[in-house]
Amino acid sequence: MGWSRQQFSLMPIKETLAGIAQNAPPFLAFMIMIITDPLRHHHRHCDDLFADAEAAANSNDWPCCAEAFGRFTTELESHFTAEEQILFPAFEDAMGMSGGPTQVMRMEHGQMRGLLEQMAEALQSRRSGQFCSAGETLLILMQQHNFKEENILYPMCDQRLAESDGLAERLREKITIA
Ligand SMILES: [Fe+2]
Repeated sequence: MGWSRQQFSLMPIKETLAGIAQNAPPFLAFMIMIITDPLRHHHRHCDDLFADAEAAANSNDWPCCAEAFGRFTTELESHFTAEEQILFPAFEDAMGMSGGPTQVMRMEHGQMRGLLEQMAEALQSRRSGQFCSAGETLLILMQQHNFKEENILYPMCDQRLAESDGLAERLREKITIA
C-alpha cells in the first residue's frame, strides 16, 4: 500500500520541531551557564596568589609575604564559604543527602584552614622553613582537593543544578575580590 498525500503532510515535522523546542530550555541552560565556572576560574586565581606568597617567603621578603598571604587567605576563605554556604547545600538538597562527597570536601576545607593557621603563625614569627613546609602540605592538599572538585563534584553539580535560579551569579558575588 502506497503513502497518501495526507501521510506526507508536515505534521510529523511539526511534531519533531515541537519536541526539539520542548527539550531546548535545559539544553540552552547548559550551553549558556555552567554553574561551577566561576569556582574553576577562582581555583586558578588562588593558585597564583599562593605562588606569590611562597615566592616572597623564599626570598625572606616578609612585608611582601604578609601582603600576598593576606590576599591568598582572603580569597581562599571566600572560596570555601561560597562552596559551603551556596553550592554544597544546593547540591545536597538536589540529591536529598547531606553526607557523601560534600562532606569530604567540607572536611578537607577544615584541614586546609588548619594549615593556613600554621602558615600565619610562621609568618608572624618569620620562620620561612615552617611557612614553606606547611605551605607545601597545603599546596598538595589543595591540588588534590581541586582535582576532585573539578573532575567529580563540579560536573555532578553542573548536571544536577543546571536549572537552579541564579546560582552561578551568587557564587560569583561571593568570590569576587572586595
Ligand atoms: Fe572546595
